[in-house]
Amino acid sequence: MLIKTNQISVDYRDSGSGVPVIFIHAFPLNQTMWDDQVTELQTQCRAITLDLRGFGKSDAPQNPYSMDQMAGDVRDLMSALGIDRAILVGLSMGGYVSLAFYRRYPQSVMALLLADTRASADTPEARERRLKSAAKAEKDGAHAIADDMVPLLLGPTTLGSRPSIVERVRTMIEANSPVGIAGAQRGMAERSDSTELLRGIELPALVIVGSEDMLTPVTEAENLSTGIPGAGLRVIERAGHLSNLERPEEFNAALIDFIKEVRIPR
Ligand code: MLT
Repeated sequence: MLIKTNQISVDYRDSGSGVPVIFIHAFPLNQTMWDDQVTELQTQCRAITLDLRGFGKSDAPQNPYSMDQMAGDVRDLMSALGIDRAILVGLSMGGYVSLAFYRRYPQSVMALLLADTRASADTPEARERRLKSAAKAEKDGAHAIADDMVPLLLGPTTLGSRPSIVERVRTMIEANSPVGIAGAQRGMAERSDSTELLRGIELPALVIVGSEDMLTPVTEAENLSTGIPGAGLRVIERAGHLSNLERPEEFNAALIDFIKEVRIPR
């Protein structure tokens, strides 16, 4: 379904009922990366996914797209759907957006699940690589970005033994517009450091990471989980950066336990 937020059209899906859980996708994918979670979760909660600006079926306006702008799109979607507070589940770029969302609208967050992500800003070298990648997307198209990213997004176990997942991720990337990919890269390059924000998070929080994540390794997840008071940490074996779609059963089990805990605190 399409909705107008912040002057752009945002595509979203809304299924199930009960506590609202909003899933925020990684770069350079789209909301279908959460299909395995929605299928299972929609019987237990209200599962909402969206294509961030620049991705999937949402508009790709001129860029860069700041994490704050993307967080604003999520907040506008919540308002349009009549949701005051939600559990946010953000993976990688979705985690950056979740932290930006928490900074801007803390009262709208019920709990945070941060997967395969980090709180720190880019190093100068990482920023440089991103700006080059943005220019490459515009010059050579989304398939060139898929060539670069697929070997980094998926862990060696998935890359070596699960061709259907490799294909699914490549297809998702190639369906995106170069403008959108470049806009998100430039926006991530400018994102602020959220490390200081972590210790003030007084909400249920869980950090998940794939044991084979090469982009945001387990040490990053440990930094994140120790930074947030009381946050849990789950390491998913044989999963890379896209832990939710490489090992959906393990990811869903952790997510379901977390949602139960948010509903009925121990
Ligand atoms: C992602 O998966 O969203 C990206 O790896 C994030 C990033 O490039 O920092």
